[in-house]
Amino acid sequence: MGPTSIDPHLIVVFGATGDLFHRKLLPALFRLLERGVIDGRFRVLGVARRGDLDDASFRGLCERSLDQAGLTSREAARAAFVAALDYAQVQDGVAASYQALAERIAAIEDQHALPHHRIFYLSLPPQAFPSTIEGLGAVGLNRSEGTTRLVIEKPFGRDLASAKALNQLLHRWFDETQVYRIDHYLGKETVQNLFVFRFANALFEPVWNRDRIDNVQITVSEELGVESRAGYYEQAGALRDMVQNHLTQLLCLTAMEPPAQFEADAIRNEKVKVLRSIAPIADDDVVFGQYRPGTIEGAPVCGYLGEKGVAPTSTTETFVALRVSVSNWRWQGVPFYLRTGKRMPKRLSQITVSFRCPPVSMFQPFNTCVLSSNQLVITVQPDEGFDLSFEVKAPGEGMAMRSQRMQYRYHENFASLPDGYETLLADIVQGDQTLFVRADEVEKSWELFTPVLERPRAVHGYAAGSWGPAAAEQLVARHDQRWAQR
Ligand code: BG6
Repeated sequence: MGPTSIDPHLIVVFGATGDLFHRKLLPALFRLLERGVIDGRFRVLGVARRGDLDDASFRGLCERSLDQAGLTSREAARAAFVAALDYAQVQDGVAASYQALAERIAAIEDQHALPHHRIFYLSLPPQAFPSTIEGLGAVGLNRSEGTTRLVIEKPFGRDLASAKALNQLLHRWFDETQVYRIDHYLGKETVQNLFVFRFANALFEPVWNRDRIDNVQITVSEELGVESRAGYYEQAGALRDMVQNHLTQLLCLTAMEPPAQFEADAIRNEKVKVLRSIAPIADDDVVFGQYRPGTIEGAPVCGYLGEKGVAPTSTTETFVALRVSVSNWRWQGVPFYLRTGKRMPKRLSQITVSFRCPPVSMFQPFNTCVLSSNQLVITVQPDEGFDLSFEVKAPGEGMAMRSQRMQYRYHENFASLPDGYETLLADIVQGDQTLFVRADEVEKSWELFTPVLERPRAVHGYAAGSWGPAAAEQLVARHDQRWAQR
């Protein structure tokens, strides 16, 4: 059994000079300490390649990051938090460096009488994963007298072969029970709420199937372009960056069967079953796009090819739309449309479930109305909540109908939603793997998308600020559908 939440841990973060650590992990750790989720005796050892930092200057950097995150009050708590941060330089791939790290860890644990519960967090570019895992394993840091956990950020592989190779390397040194593969979408409150929404309400389960649902759409759009990440994005593209992980998780949680228990492996088994049921994705069920110059919030923006660090002839996709078939008893014949892109009109993550129209319309003779299907819209972000649309009679003479919405908004009912990283870090400390991606899950997902990535492809242009290329409209129009947001 893992330690309880009050057992102190040593959290060793590789990539401690990086953006993720300073913008997300550090503020999340501070909030967890304040909430009492992590013990006051915890320690963080920041690890990076930079040799010009020591404990004091590293703490200075962290202070600035806490300021930027707006965590400026509560001085005593902050001082105690910052005093628990240390720094070590590790040269990637240098064995002696890992030996020195092991000694430093032992010294910190001795000095603070820590019970050897260690978390290694790889907040690193993917090319540094193998050497770091190898380096840790080679000096015995894969085990301890307490618990040892390894957290690994996305992207986990870039295709099926590389994901398998990374899993093999991980499993040479770590058991699967020690490994926490991050998909930060699983940390979002509204994503977790899909479990509760589906399985704690008797209302939806009887209609959650092919008899009642016509199609499901999942849109994750962003206003942002590639920003300063061209180096990574040119090698990734939207399918690897968003679909293989975040959108696939949303699909799995929407489509999965109720697990026998709310427990990590029971849930992950059900998600893997969904992935196994997805039919190979046909060539004409995928549309790739790349943004061209356009307008965002009234201001002109350049196209992808004009972005810094992007090759002028790049065919990297910044948009993908797909039609996916989940061929199982529940979903046979119900298309799942997935769509994501950068430089779209707004930031929005939404799941739209469209129900079938009534089988016959007794209102047809009135010829005054076309029945719309009922829709359940689950907004993951921003303005988190649910909308359920239904038909009502428009007041007045005759029999005209209108679609109306019942709305539920999180912010009207709860003070604030915790950041996803706060949730995920709390789960790692508590040893709960429910919200982390299992080895077979990540491989099944790559098995599905690798053939799509390897086929020759057309990349359609779309104006920045639009909902994607016309081909994406045709993808759904071919099946008499329309995107819910256009
Ligand atoms: C990351 C992608 O995983 O998710 C980014 O690498 C993307 O390209 C980001 O912008 C979106 O996350 P969120 O939480 O802002 O929807």
